[in-house]
Amino acid sequence: MSRILVTTEIPAPGMEILRAAGEVDLRALDHEQLVDACASGEYSVVVSQLRDRFDADLLASASIVGISNYAVGFDNIDVAAATQHGITVANTPGVLTNSTADIAMLLVLSTARRAVEADAFVRSGSFTGWEPELLLGSDVSGRVLGLAGFGRIARATARRALGFGMTIKFCPRPPGDRDVSDDELGEFAGCVEHASWDEIVATSDFLSLHVPLSDATHHLVDASALEAMKPSAILINTARGPVVDEAALVTALREGTIAAAGLDVYEREPALEPGLAELSNTVLLPHVGSATVSVRSEMARLCATNAAAMVGGSPPPHPVNP
Ligand code: DGY
Repeated sequence: MSRILVTTEIPAPGMEILRAAGEVDLRALDHEQLVDACASGEYSVVVSQLRDRFDADLLASASIVGISNYAVGFDNIDVAAATQHGITVANTPGVLTNSTADIAMLLVLSTARRAVEADAFVRSGSFTGWEPELLLGSDVSGRVLGLAGFGRIARATARRALGFGMTIKFCPRPPGDRDVSDDELGEFAGCVEHASWDEIVATSDFLSLHVPLSDATHHLVDASALEAMKPSAILINTARGPVVDEAALVTALREGTIAAAGLDVYEREPALEPGLAELSNTVLLPHVGSATVSVRSEMARLCATNAAAMVGGSPPPHPVNP
């Protein structure tokens, strides 16, 4: 029977599929151990997590046929190197779109209305009654939400934000641009405005990031982008931490270059940039975009189905290799 290396247990519906497909070896491994395990010839498929790094060296020495990543993102895997060595990579697209857009919207609302500060205020016993100027925040309705990217999660965020009366501008492939036809816009034709990266940076009241991490998007939001934003603007990141230069962000938040930030992902996750946690104008979540019971179960099913297909010598339903 084929052996499947699982680096972290996934929810039960996935583990059942994996156990039916092969002999499952559940092992928490550091990078060196992962390199050795992949090269050992003991495993045909690895079920991986975002923290497992499959770099070119690991992939060159690996004797596995596939990697099934328990995530939609796959920036932890050098897909070009995997392809070169005949290793199939698969992911879990679609199922976490709405839950991640919910978190983007939660961060928009909680930063705008200072929900975390307000909660701390009540819990500390400071609330002594309604006051005309207590914890005033910013409006959401009528404000511009700039979307960096216009894929599934950006669109689901746009759908929600339109319901809150926001104006949506989107840049499909920042920092560059590309044409988007009305057909591609579908339900959004006429409701959202295609804009350049520079324009959404300069005009957004809320700038929400929905791009994959790549060389082109690494530090997309750097000191100069932060400088170009409105002083009242709020940055939302539910995509990948390294899309933002976190040191520059801490400085911008400290100096009032922008008003606030709502983050679900971090540049050196799980480590935080020094100073970030001390700022009251941040809402900080622990990478929970997909963290609902049903979404994580669905991800587990997709991930295990991908792995089972590869173990059986078939293409996975959700490959990411070109
Ligand atoms: C993903 O799937 O890429 C998320 O970041 C975690 O669910």
